[in-house]
Amino acid sequence: MMDLDGLDKNVQFGSYFKHTETSLTKDIVFLNHGSYGTVPKRVAAAQTRYREEMERNPDLWFRQASLDHWLKAVSVLADFFHCHSQDLVLVPNASTGINSVLMSCKLKTGEAILITRLTYGSIQKATSHVTKRFEGTEAVFLDITFPISSAQQIVDLYEECFKSHPNIKLAVIDYITSPSSVVMPVKELITLCHHYSVLSVIDGAHTPGHIPLHLNDLDADFFTGNLHKWLYAPRGCAILWVKRDHHDWIYPVVTSWGYEFPLQIRFFKQGTRDHTAEICGMHAVQFYQAIGGMDRILKYTTGLINEAQEYLVKLLNTESLPIPKSMEVPNMRCILLSGICGFPQSVVFDESEKLILDIMNKSNIVCAFICIEEKLFLRISANVYNTMDDYRRLGEVLLHYHTA
Ligand SMILES: Cc1ncc(COP(=O)(O)O)c(C=O)c1O
Repeated sequence: MMDLDGLDKNVQFGSYFKHTETSLTKDIVFLNHGSYGTVPKRVAAAQTRYREEMERNPDLWFRQASLDHWLKAVSVLADFFHCHSQDLVLVPNASTGINSVLMSCKLKTGEAILITRLTYGSIQKATSHVTKRFEGTEAVFLDITFPISSAQQIVDLYEECFKSHPNIKLAVIDYITSPSSVVMPVKELITLCHHYSVLSVIDGAHTPGHIPLHLNDLDADFFTGNLHKWLYAPRGCAILWVKRDHHDWIYPVVTSWGYEFPLQIRFFKQGTRDHTAEICGMHAVQFYQAIGGMDRILKYTTGLINEAQEYLVKLLNTESLPIPKSMEVPNMRCILLSGICGFPQSVVFDESEKLILDIMNKSNIVCAFICIEEKLFLRISANVYNTMDDYRRLGEVLLHYHTA
């Protein structure tokens, strides 16, 4: 199903890769892989072939073949993420993974879910919805602010919070925060959760393909992560890992024919759906390995993002979001824009979102503008199709944005 002809571990990264392996147009400067990624042509072609197979005989597909392919994909991904395949299911996205866990966790009156100021916005909303549904429950909000001085500072904040809120039943912990781009000390936080008898739900939306993952060793209660960001899967492909102890009470948000079945079938059968993106998770892994795997990819992308960060900070005479080097994300960085080159001192979320479209429409440069503690930041990503020229073009546009 996957054509890897002509691809090897020496494939040239940068412009050549962009033109041969992705569908990005020649002129676009794409510096926001972190939001939706881009699907390599070979992976997209594999998905098309599955769709053709589905249409050749829909009944064969829905009654038999799709489950076979899906279970094969789960097994390949379980190997890749170092876990047992019976603990792993495929879901369309991280939101679905987290919502499935939150909705299944029948909170009792007085109990609470812990989130933080850095929890992804849509997950904050999901938490709010769940605590409204279960009467007498609440969300406890841990206020993590910048600068962050060390991973230990984060661990201490969580510990104080667990001590002062013994009603916390479940903690949603971001592995990589978004959009602020901080790697959290997840292993230490999971240990803390075990100590305080809190269920740990790891939001790893940005983690697969970005940070080495050993799901068995991580020993969380739940882990979810998108494969469409850093692992090159088609959109609609994410994993949900569930600790064996919890299999009996975790249900997908949609109840269907799989209701009384074991975890995997429960999640597979959620009404008639197109599973081709989830199935292609296994081909995304093949592609990722074929171009050199994590070591080679991160060597290129982390080298590039470090150089780009240094270049932009100097050019714009500004600074990066204040976090320790050890908590930086391999492929993303946040750089302060408030008060620089005519950008406003303070912004709200909608203004930063508007800027993304404005710069994209005027300059064909795609990057994220984000609002952290009411200040405007630029978030840049690096991937194997980027080069320093991309960041130079961005730098020029930002320098002259208010004078052009
Ligand atoms: C930390 C985090 N959690 C959850 C999500 C939601 O992912 P999705 O919209 O694919 O469900 C994102 C998306 O970027 C994210 O960064």
